[in-house]
Amino acid sequence: MAIRFNRENKVFILDTKTSSYVMKIYDGGYLLNLYYGRKIEGDNVEDFDIRAKNASFSLAAADVGEGDFAPDSAPIEYGCDGAGDFRVSAIKIRNCNGDSVTDLRYLSHEIIDGKPEIKDMPSTYVNGGEKATTLLINMQDAVTGVQVTLKYTVFENHGVMTKSVSVKNCSKNAVYIERAMSLCNDFPKMDWDMITLYGRHYYERHIERRRLAHGLQGIESNKGISSHCHNPFVALVSPNADEEHGEAYGFNLVYSGNFSVAVECDYNDSARLVMGINPNTFTWKLEANEVFDAPEVVCVYSNEGIGEMSRIFHRFYNNNLINGKYKTEKRPILINSWEATYFDINEEKLLDFARSAKELGVEMLVMDDGWFGGRNDDTTSLGDWVVNKEKFPNGLSPFIEQVHSIGLKFGIWFEPEMISPKSELYKAHPDYCVRAEGREPMLGRNQYVLDVSRKEVRDAVWLQIDEILKNNKIDYVKWDFNRYVTDANSVVLPIDRKKEFAHRFILGTYDLMNRLKTNYPDILLESCSGGGGRFDPAMLYYSPQIWTSDNTDAIGRLSIQFGTSLCYPASCMGAHVSDYPRAYYGTKADVALWGSFGYELDPRKLNEEQRKEFKNQIAEYHKYYNLIHFGDLYRTLSPFEEKYKVAWQIVSQDKKECLLTVVCLQERIPENFIYKFKGLDQNAYYKNEEDGKVYSGDFLASVGLNLSNKINYVYGSRKWYFIKVD
Ligand code: GLA
Repeated sequence: MAIRFNRENKVFILDTKTSSYVMKIYDGGYLLNLYYGRKIEGDNVEDFDIRAKNASFSLAAADVGEGDFAPDSAPIEYGCDGAGDFRVSAIKIRNCNGDSVTDLRYLSHEIIDGKPEIKDMPSTYVNGGEKATTLLINMQDAVTGVQVTLKYTVFENHGVMTKSVSVKNCSKNAVYIERAMSLCNDFPKMDWDMITLYGRHYYERHIERRRLAHGLQGIESNKGISSHCHNPFVALVSPNADEEHGEAYGFNLVYSGNFSVAVECDYNDSARLVMGINPNTFTWKLEANEVFDAPEVVCVYSNEGIGEMSRIFHRFYNNNLINGKYKTEKRPILINSWEATYFDINEEKLLDFARSAKELGVEMLVMDDGWFGGRNDDTTSLGDWVVNKEKFPNGLSPFIEQVHSIGLKFGIWFEPEMISPKSELYKAHPDYCVRAEGREPMLGRNQYVLDVSRKEVRDAVWLQIDEILKNNKIDYVKWDFNRYVTDANSVVLPIDRKKEFAHRFILGTYDLMNRLKTNYPDILLESCSGGGGRFDPAMLYYSPQIWTSDNTDAIGRLSIQFGTSLCYPASCMGAHVSDYPRAYYGTKADVALWGSFGYELDPRKLNEEQRKEFKNQIAEYHKYYNLIHFGDLYRTLSPFEEKYKVAWQIVSQDKKECLLTVVCLQERIPENFIYKFKGLDQNAYYKNEEDGKVYSGDFLASVGLNLSNKINYVYGSRKWYFIKVD
């Protein structure tokens, strides 16, 4: 049984494949967290220490009294604001009397098969044939009547548990939710390193690791989207943890909007982690009987290091988050027009482009920005999704038909949530953009943000996009978002709902993406936001691949892809070979192969030799597709630690195949380079495809291969492919 309740001791035990999570209903209905970690075999329910020590200056609730227990030091499962627990709280509700004291106690619980969906929000799902069980614990505030349901789903085939929360107003009066975090986890010690993914445009998701210290530490986005700067991911790992050893807890919020991750280490050296919608830009008015749903968090525990934590995320996202046709169907190799031509596109040029790409083995042409309205640069026309007749005199359909008759699929670019001040849409509806009363909205890349929190605005933009999709045979959509949100306000929201805007905006985006997903299930969606500015699990639910970064320099990409892979699988990282001058095409392809492969250059400019090379790259893409998209990743030499070389391996889940890629960062690798393989079956034999030599898995792991002098040029790369032999 994945979820058990011991009535006598009032203890819940939740077991995933690799972890256990234990809670107890304590005196007064306080819900305590007793344990989260390696799976416990057996039933030691009485043996957990509740860690609820009273200290001087601790406070006590009248109904429980000043005994051993103090809410301020106890491992409270879902920390409340203003009722004796001074740590960063998970929930704060302003009631009709105007105070925000919130005190949740256990009311009831239920254990159900499967996993309920979260209304209007993307979330992970139970895959056919797999088993998941959900525990719903209802908590109640006796004074306001507000009920909070804590939801835990345990996936038995994975080391994964998801958590989410919903708040129901069971009183007669409206209340205001001032914070409703999706995750609250109390750790009995603070001796952890915190790992987060920070960055900026061109430099997304770089790994940052720091030791926890007393007080508050954390990351957040207040930019309207998850952003380039911080990702809604955090890991707490033991100080000695590396890729293979140590404990690692990873948490990833399935949300694309403003989020917050806060860790507080308090006076008794324990740590509380909360994660959810950023409370700084959020308040939600909840009328009587209404329910508010917070997004979910995916929680992974590994006691085999950070690498195993990542692999658990990867398998889970490939199986239980990414969905639709292209979850399993092979994705076409695309060529994107952007870096080759920027806005300077037209029918003739793109058809030429398509013919040349087809000869190489490319499978899809993506027409990026510049095809609509009067869009010759970035100052105009967002919101006018009508084909530009100067560039496409025959209209879109005949052009797309020609692309198809060349033998390529066809993809198109949109930026649905944006509006240019120079556009027909803006002329007709200046009120459609996000703006604060009496202020000119700020400009970012010469554009404003459309207020997609409003249904009529979504309908207006969808009408245009639908028109294009309905009347043309489009196989792929790139959905972009090229600025952050300022002037965060919807002119139509009443004053006491203004702080709902940021969340409503994201719900609006989800609604638009849902329209695309349900009306056009065969379209492959690639989401993008100035590269990887909205690279999060919520986007993965709609788009099986995401454009990882506008940085297409293979060497710059190493750090970005290493960082991104902490929780996101290779299958979702859009990665293209471009003309960025650093590195050889060979290295660019080797790096792009670790992702959803494509090209971002003008194929007509390649010479014969390069064309031959590209054909080989494409053959390799086909050969390694399943291995890379669904295999297990081992990050072996990290760009964040190594000076001379970077390496990663992908091993198929059945351990029959292994691809090692090494990139050399300097003219030569000075030391002896002995490479020891990870993840192989130690009892099996593997053949090195290059020279036919056969090694035992044990030999490759323990003795390793001498790769010294195998790559001796700066930014060169090589791959080694091993296959199991009987
Ligand atoms: C963003 C994307 C690019 C490209 C441009 C077009 O920057 O990340 O790939 O689509 O927009 O304007």
